[in-house]
Amino acid sequence: MIEFQQVSKIFGGQAAVKDLNLTLREGAFSVLIGTSGSGKSTTLKMINRLETHDSGTIRFAGEDIRQQPILSLRRRMGYAIQSIGLFPHWTVAQNIATVPQLQKWPRQKINDRIDELLALLGLAPAMRDRYPHQLSGGQQQRVGVARALAANPEVLLMDEPFGALDPVTRAALQEEMRRIHRLLGRTIVLVTHDIDEALSLADHLVLMDKGEVVQQGAPLAMLTAPENDFVRAFFGRSELGVRLLSLRSIADYVRPDDRADGEPLLITQTLRDALSQFVARRCDVLAVADADGTPRGALHFTDLLRREGDE
Ligand SMILES: Nc1ncnc2c1ncn2[C@@H]1O[C@H](COP(=O)(O)OP(=O)(O)O)[C@@H](O)[C@H]1O
Ligand SMILES: [Mg+2]
Repeated sequence: MIEFQQVSKIFGGQAAVKDLNLTLREGAFSVLIGTSGSGKSTTLKMINRLETHDSGTIRFAGEDIRQQPILSLRRRMGYAIQSIGLFPHWTVAQNIATVPQLQKWPRQKINDRIDELLALLGLAPAMRDRYPHQLSGGQQQRVGVARALAANPEVLLMDEPFGALDPVTRAALQEEMRRIHRLLGRTIVLVTHDIDEALSLADHLVLMDKGEVVQQGAPLAMLTAPENDFVRAFFGRSELGVRLLSLRSIADYVRPDDRADGEPLLITQTLRDALSQFVARRCDVLAVADADGTPRGALHFTDLLRREGDE
């Protein structure tokens, strides 16, 4: 869907991005990660031509983006950033309606779309007429994402969208993004420097350093088969174990015919969540259930040590 071929971007004689080759698949949740200054934001901004690349080719849906009129290109891509950029003197509804208004959608269709997006992002209908300063940081961030999604863009570009939020709100919004991605199957490209955020959201992870891709692939492959010391160090030797657990779902490790007492784990949680409960509750077997409470089996502490495919 988005393809970089030998793309470079120079600022003041310095390459921010160097000979970048990258393919971001349609429908995938791709995450660009790397230290500050590694070229992530520049890469993202070149996709919707907020920055112009100096050499190489970027294709969107098969076509060179230089051949596509900038406005029609941006209309096909929603863009959400950390500093949100909501219009302060516009209500939530007016903010969300920005692009549909520009595209002269009929009033009723815009209103329906606003209702739909408020529901999708877990914002109460009463938020409609509030102004940005009357919202919490997390609510503003949700409105920012709603605005980016408003005109049904084919691609959602997000630059550290949850960067300024507290950990609890951040986790809630990450969960929201996962749900929206599953629900809408939209292509998402997200930039972050937060390793755990990247691991929990990405189908496809791209690790950048000094304007170049160091390694890319599935999150689990990056952790279990780092191609060099930089990758190994980046994902952190000391945190490696819990990060691996965070990529594994209880559903794949539960013993379905087994039962245990006590407050159950949710089958949709990760082994990292389970580890935390084993330690906090000082036990070595925990019940597992659905969100509606239906028992789904039990998880044993030793199950955390099994590899994929082991019986
Ligand atoms: N508009 C700009 N003018 C000059 N230099 C820039 C500009 N944007 C980014 N850079 C430089 O390009 C490099 C990559 O920046 P950026 O893509 O923002 O990195 P990241 O998002 O990974 O932190 C940095 O060295 C940064 O200082
Ligand atoms: Mg950046």
